[in-house]
Amino acid sequence: MDDEQTVRDVLNRALVEAGYECVVASMVDEALLALQQEQFNLVLSDILMPEKTGIDLLEAVTGNYPDIAVMMVTAVSDTETAVNTLKMGAYDYLTKPFNLEEVCISVRRVLDKQSLEIANREYRDHLEQKVKSQTEKLRDTFMGAIMALADALEAKDAYTHGHSERVTIIAVMISEAIGMTEEEIEKVRLAGTVHDIGKIGVPERVLNKPGRLTDEEFAQVKIHSELGEDILRNLVRDPEVLSYVRHHHERFGGGGYPDGLSALAIPIGARLLAVADAFDAMISDRPYRDSLPQEKACQQLISNSGSQFDPDIVDAFMCSRDKLSICPLPNIPRAG
Ligand SMILES: [Fe+2]
Repeated sequence: MDDEQTVRDVLNRALVEAGYECVVASMVDEALLALQQEQFNLVLSDILMPEKTGIDLLEAVTGNYPDIAVMMVTAVSDTETAVNTLKMGAYDYLTKPFNLEEVCISVRRVLDKQSLEIANREYRDHLEQKVKSQTEKLRDTFMGAIMALADALEAKDAYTHGHSERVTIIAVMISEAIGMTEEEIEKVRLAGTVHDIGKIGVPERVLNKPGRLTDEEFAQVKIHSELGEDILRNLVRDPEVLSYVRHHHERFGGGGYPDGLSALAIPIGARLLAVADAFDAMISDRPYRDSLPQEKACQQLISNSGSQFDPDIVDAFMCSRDKLSICPLPNIPRAG
């Protein structure tokens, strides 16, 4: 594109002779129209024009046609502007008067550079796509292993059927209510799914015992939170997720297990799981007692807020509990 007929003619002739197909334009709008109608690899544009300038064309091309290379054409007296156009995305510039042989060499060089850049970008996009799909595959495999572990526990302990899933739903609901990030929520989701996995190591007759546990049996149940962390350590590398599993039976006021932590020393995810776990346990039938209605279970959470549970977490649970009626909890065991 050039407003001078002679320049257009000279460049057109030289480039056609060198084997290129060319379209000429005398002003920016004409060039933009041509760009809409046909595909181009390269735009050669004069800088100084009576109305819209070559800079306008350069901006339009770099913004809308990233695969088209732009070379500026300028008078020797204005190379400073030409150099500036390089910063704006132009590939190169030609100075008038032309040495036509040099013009053809420059055009060839720019087109080579441009096709290399396009190839590079396609390769990078392809690589990103490949990494993304491999990451998804890895995640699927990982979640498959996690679900297999959860299923193994459910096969052994009739009570936990659906329990981990419900605890996860409730814990995620609370996580959202307290404004956790998606990454943090993902950790809570994972820990919720496997929080009781250590019960695999607790004898079945203890897990399914109808009636109160003896002290010795209770001690056997209590090892499940530490054991869970041990079992998961080879599968889950995230120390936070492991700590949520380990500490989900700590009490906010102290005196829980396995480490007797209290208050904010208990990891946030473990405090969340403690509320979700207790709520689901109360609204589910146990071998030794029937379920409580949801309202009664809520009252229990409130009356143990501060002693057993983090009061902020109980508050967040109460505020977001309406969601449970929109998204009912699956498979709550019922007597009879
Ligand atoms: Fe547990």
